[in-house]
Parts: sequence; C-alpha cells; structure tokens
Amino acid sequence: MDRELLVQAAAWIAESRRPVAFTGAGVSRESGIPTFREATTGFWERYDPYELATVEGFLKNPKLVWEWYAFRRQLVRETEPNPGHKALAELEHLLPELMLITQNVDNLHRRAGSRRIIELHGNITRVKCFKEGTLYEDWSDKDYRGEIPPRCKACYSYLRPDVVWFGESLPARALEEAFKSAENCDLMLVVGTSGLVQPAASLPGMARRRGARIIEVNPDPSEITPSAHLFLQGKSGEVLPEVVARVGAIRREG
Ligand code: APR
Repeated sequence: MDRELLVQAAAWIAESRRPVAFTGAGVSRESGIPTFREATTGFWERYDPYELATVEGFLKNPKLVWEWYAFRRQLVRETEPNPGHKALAELEHLLPELMLITQNVDNLHRRAGSRRIIELHGNITRVKCFKEGTLYEDWSDKDYRGEIPPRCKACYSYLRPDVVWFGESLPARALEEAFKSAENCDLMLVVGTSGLVQPAASLPGMARRRGARIIEVNPDPSEITPSAHLFLQGKSGEVLPEVVARVGAIRREG
C-alpha cells in the first residue's frame, strides 16, 4: 500500500465534518463470508440469485429459499467481525458524526460495535411475515422445530428473511436517510463494493457531485473507482486499521 495515499486518506478523514462510510460484501470477506460476484467463490457464481433471492423464487420453492437463508444465518453466526469492521467501529468513536451505510445483511458492523448504521438491504438475522411485514427480531433457527418455512402467528402467511430481494424496493426510510447522508457528507469512504447494484451504487456519485471527497478501499478496481479521489488498493481488513490508526493519531494531536 502506497504510504502517501494512506497519509492523505487519514488527513482527509480526520478533518471531515460529515463523514460517511459506505460498505459492501467485501468488508466481510475476511470474516469468511463470500461476496456475491467474485469469480468462483461469489454466492451468485454458485447459486442462482433468481431462484434464491426473489419473491418469485420464494413463492416457487419457499422451503428451499428459507433453508438457504437459514444456512447463511448459520454462516454469519459462526463468523466474527474482522479488523475492517472493527476499524469502522473505532472510526465512529473518533468521529461520532460518522454515518455507516451498508449493503450487507450480515449484522457484522453492529457486532463490531458500529451504532450509526443504515441497513439498505435489510438484516439476515431478522425474519418477517411475508404478507404483513411484521418483524420477528431475534429469530433463532436452533430453537425452531416446526414447519419450514414457519408461519406468521397473526395471519398464518409464511415468514421470510428481512432482506431486500432482487426486484424489491429498498426500505423507504433507510433509502431516504442514505440519500440524505450522501448528499450532505463532505467525505465518503467506500469499502468493498463492486458498485454494480442500484440504487445503492449511486450514493458515491451523489456525494461526489455535492463536492464530497471519495476514498475507495478495494483489492480490485470497481465501478466506483473512476469517481474516487483516492483509491487505496488492498483488503479492507488490512487497509482500514492502518488508516484509522492514523486518524486517531491526528485527532489526538488536536
Ligand atoms: N476487502 C475489501 N473489498 C473486497 C475484499 C476485501 N478483502 N475482497 C473482495 N472485495 C471486493 C471485490 O473486489 C468487489 O468489488 O468486494 C466487492 C464485492 O462486490 P459484490 O460481490 O458485487 O458485493 P456488493 O458490491 O456488496 O453487492 C451489492 O448486490 O447481490 C446484491 O444484495 C446484494 O448487497 C449486495 C449487492
């Protein structure tokens, strides 16, 4: 990693007044959770997203889809936040106004200690009623012994994961908050996203057009890279702790 770029990134982040972090599946890669589009290892390289992550797919085979998400919940339970998640949680301590917008549904930012989080695509640890949307916050697969998928106690419809499927709109409040944060921020730290899925992928461009500085962390160039002022090429679990340590040192110097 080019030291100059790290120093510049830390200086920009330390002096930012309204920083935003925007993350994708790459930030969880070093926790052992596959991303979606990476060759051979990505979820969508091995599973059909239209069979497993659409309303049609769920209605066609509710048991298969429920069990695939139960498998992913198990995967998430067995993984730990990695140094990249922890660095972003530390950054929130250093910069209390930091807003973290994530596309990830794995709950690892919250488990790492981040609190100001906008979950654009939902959260896999929550399930909800397919028909009414009633939330079942702390769902536990291991305590459940009934029919698959389980049924809503109130209306008897199937339960489903509280995540956004392809073709579904994003939670309106989360999207509105994310757009507002992107339009008002003076810096956006973009970590571990291919920048391929809208409307989330439009956030860095929105921020840049409003004059925000864009810093990207990714081992490979993405759709976002052309609009980044700084591209820190590397794994977030390695780059973020370095950057955040420097931000801490600058903030302590005052
Ligand atoms: N550190 C940082 N970034 C990484 C790492 C790492 N260790 N390893 C891989 N990456 C990068 C890849 O280079 C890629 O740019 O993470 C990105 C992952 O891209 P995707 O798999 O497309 O994931 P994401 O951008 O989060 O997808 C967006 O698509 O399928 C939907 O809802 C799903 O939220 C997801 C959305």
